[in-house]
Amino acid sequence: MNIIGLILLAMCLPIITDCRNFFMVPKNLTAKQSTKHQTEDNPNLVNNGDRSGTYVSGVTCTHASGDDPGPWWLLDMGQTYLISGVNIWNRLDNDCAQRFTHSGVGITSDPTVWTDFSIDLLDPCHFRTDVPTVADNPLKFTCARPTSGRYLAVYKNLTGVPDLLTGFHFCEIDIYAFTKDSSKLVVTETQASFSASSTAGLLTASAPHRVRSQLECMLLCSSHPYCLYALTRTTSAVLECWLFSSFSIPTSFISLFNNSSNDGVRFLGLYGGLSKP
Ligand SMILES: *[C@@H]1O[C@H](CO)[C@@H](O)[C@H](O)[C@H]1NC(C)=O
Ligand SMILES: *[C@@H]1O[C@H](CO)[C@@H](O)[C@H](O)[C@H]1NC(C)=O
Ligand SMILES: *[C@@H]1O[C@H](CO)[C@@H](O)[C@H](O)[C@H]1NC(C)=O
Ligand SMILES: *[C@@H]1O[C@H](CO)[C@@H](O)[C@H](O)[C@H]1NC(C)=O
Repeated sequence: MNIIGLILLAMCLPIITDCRNFFMVPKNLTAKQSTKHQTEDNPNLVNNGDRSGTYVSGVTCTHASGDDPGPWWLLDMGQTYLISGVNIWNRLDNDCAQRFTHSGVGITSDPTVWTDFSIDLLDPCHFRTDVPTVADNPLKFTCARPTSGRYLAVYKNLTGVPDLLTGFHFCEIDIYAFTKDSSKLVVTETQASFSASSTAGLLTASAPHRVRSQLECMLLCSSHPYCLYALTRTTSAVLECWLFSSFSIPTSFISLFNNSSNDGVRFLGLYGGLSKP
């Protein structure tokens, strides 16, 4: 953490230990899934508040086709949320709980995901490879880093999964989000690294903000409803500031980090260190 981070920490902690308000995203939003095991299967049944773990097609839980090579379930939350994690209520009947392995949760703001699903469009929240039992219910997916977005996906990667465990089904998902309170600036951490992808949560349109200090950049991020990360650099004696909604930033930004004409390149995370849902 840099000096500014320490100052912000000192500003924040005496007031409140966690400057965020956690809440559950409302239920009965619109969902879709890659394939169906039976025609009555309904992707909306896992977002209706019914946590019952006995699969009854068209009544409880949802189930992808047994020969789906890359099963997924996708929710349109209707607006952008800052996501901290999810609880997934597993199927508990017929020894099926163990199938919820090699499965992940990801988030994106990119509407392309709704018409043309791809895992590559998602900012990863968390991926689990353990083989759960009924005793592990609900399965917790706490995002490694907070991420904002409108679409949330649950998916399975069948690579290396034994035949008996390939089925993809679950019964309910509770999604945890938080609001930022910009009057209470949160601890920031300088990120040692970041991930780059072509679809990344860049919030700053075209030209970067020109700011006088890193503090000013963090204040801009803090007061933006969906900003979680900020990147600054000094070039030609000007301090530039970009705002991001996710830890993934565009691949084009990689060159900023090892360019000797740039100075003071920092990727700052606001609202890091999530509490478990
Ligand atoms: C979701 O919709 C179903 C069907 O209308 C209803 O029975 C259920 O109570 C709703 N769930 C929540 C959490 O509002
Ligand atoms: C699935 O997992 C394999 C092995 O870990 C990996 O190589 C592959 O990229 C993954 N597929 C996707 C779509 O993420
Ligand atoms: C930046 O450095 C990394 C690691 O040394 C290297 O792989 C990458 O090609 C470099 N990028 C540029 C644009 O120089
Ligand atoms: C390094 O940054 C300077 C100033 O922004 C830019 O003109 C130059 O193209 C960059 N070089 C690379 C290799 O990205």
